[in-house]
Amino acid sequence: MGQNGAGKTTLVKHFNGLLKPSKGRVLIDGIDTRHVSVATLARKVGFVFQNPDHQLFSETVEDEVSFALKNFGFDEKTISERVEKVLNILDLTHYRKSSPFMLSGGERKRVALASVLSWDPKILILDEPTIGQDSYQKERLRQFIMQLNQQGKTVIIVTHDVEFVTECEPRIILMKNGRIIADGDAREILTDPNLVSEASLVLPEITQVFMRLNDYGFPRNVIGVYEAKRLILERLSGGFMR
Ligand SMILES: Nc1ncnc2c1ncn2[C@@H]1O[C@H](COP(=O)(O)OP(=O)(O)OP(=O)(O)O)[C@@H](O)[C@H]1O
Ligand SMILES: [Mg+2]
Repeated sequence: MGQNGAGKTTLVKHFNGLLKPSKGRVLIDGIDTRHVSVATLARKVGFVFQNPDHQLFSETVEDEVSFALKNFGFDEKTISERVEKVLNILDLTHYRKSSPFMLSGGERKRVALASVLSWDPKILILDEPTIGQDSYQKERLRQFIMQLNQQGKTVIIVTHDVEFVTECEPRIILMKNGRIIADGDAREILTDPNLVSEASLVLPEITQVFMRLNDYGFPRNVIGVYEAKRLILERLSGGFMR
C-alpha cells in the first residue's frame, strides 16, 4: 500500500521478471529473475495488471481464459474443466461467448483475473483488484483470496482500498518514494495515524470510531467489524445496558 507513484507496481513487476533489477537481485523461490524468461516465471508467478486492457486480447472471454492453458500445453479436458471453474468463481459464465472488450470495466478486470487463475500459479500478484468492483463482487473476491491463501498460495495485493484489507488482516508493507516505510500486521500498521497519513491512506472507519471511544475504555487498535461487534456486546452484557 502507499501513495500514487510510490513504486508499488514497479516493485511487483520485478516479481515475475517483467522488470529486471539494474542493481541488486530478485530471487523468487531461490531463482534469480535475471536468469529466467518471463514465460518461465509466469508459470509460478501470475500477475494481474492494474489496467486489464494491457492484458486482454482474445475475441471471446472463453478464448482469453483458455489461451495460457493452451500455451502451457494442458490437455483439452483439463482446459475445459479449468475454464468452467474460473468462469464460475468470477461470475463470468454467462459472458463466455462475449468479447472481453464489450464488457464493463469491472467485468474486464475479472476476465483478466480469471485468465491468470486458470493456470493456478503458486504466487498471485493482483494490482488494484478491487477497482471498479461493486460490493458484492468485492466480497466474493475477498473470500476467494482468503481461500487461496488457506491453500498455501502467496497472494500479493497492491491496493488503496483500506476497508477491503481490514477484513483480510494480512501483512502490510507500506511504500513511499520507492522505499518501504513500514512492514507489519494490518492491525499494527492501519491503526497508526502517522504511518497511515504518511502513506496517503485513511484509517479504517471502524478504527476511527474506536479511537473516539478510547475515552470510554475501548481499545484504539480495532480494525475488524466482527471484533468491534464482540467488544460492544461484551460491554453491553457487562451491565452498561441493564
Ligand atoms: N517505465 C518507467 N520509466 C520511468 N519511470 C517510471 C516508469 N514506470 C513508472 N515510473 C515512475 O516510477 C514511479 C513509481 O511508479 P509506480 O507505477 O510503480 O507507482 P505506484 O505506486 O504503482 O502508483 P499508483 O498507486 O498510482 O499505481 C512513478 O513516479 C512513475 O512515474
Ligand atoms: Mg500502480
